[in-house]
Amino acid sequence: VLDFALRRAGNIHWQHVDVDKAARARIKHQLPRCVWFTGLSGSGKSTIANLVEKRLLAMGHHTYILDGDNVRHGLNKDLGFTDEDRVENIRRVAEVARLMVDAGLIVLVSFISPFRAERQMARGMFGEGEFVEVFVDTPLDVAEQRDVKGLYAKARAGDIKNFTGIDSEYERPDHAEHVLDTTLNDAGTLADALVRSLLLN
Ligand code: PPS
Repeated sequence: VLDFALRRAGNIHWQHVDVDKAARARIKHQLPRCVWFTGLSGSGKSTIANLVEKRLLAMGHHTYILDGDNVRHGLNKDLGFTDEDRVENIRRVAEVARLMVDAGLIVLVSFISPFRAERQMARGMFGEGEFVEVFVDTPLDVAEQRDVKGLYAKARAGDIKNFTGIDSEYERPDHAEHVLDTTLNDAGTLADALVRSLLLN
């Protein structure tokens, strides 16, 4: 509220800095990107993002992973899983990803990010070609059958409320740059294909 009031009063101004994103990225010999993984819990987002990061690192790229489970331990530990909290979760992580891209990094964002409007909002924060949306398209029944963390069983038993796909919405992307079908290919194959498709230098 205070922040809003200060800005409204015109007391906070954008501070120009001379070193820009292009200069920061040039010394890393790479084109900064935000690679945004979206999909159901247990769809394979984190597994694939992790494999992609290992491959990019081996190629000499400077990367970072922002993963929902991890960011919710710190920056976003005050947020739960209501629609409102998920919107704020994605707003914050999109801002962090933008700062990291501004620092010249290739950022892999792995959040359920269930709502189209927030994914669209995130996309709008990046330049042309900088935002790459990757839909990890694992059907609910497959994710639920895998149930690696046992969360679907808890959600079905009513022990977790607002669980994505059970009693909280997941809106499938319409225009993702990549759709990964984890029922047809293993995570390593999908990671290889994704790395090949990213134009990073
Ligand atoms: S969101 O929707 O983008 O805000 O979610 P995210 O920050 O990616 O967090 C998802 C991880 O939180 C665990 N978890 C839940 N997921 C969905 N719904 C509910 N209610 C929930 N409660 C806990 C779960 O481990 C998710 O991790 P992934 O890797 O997606 O399975």
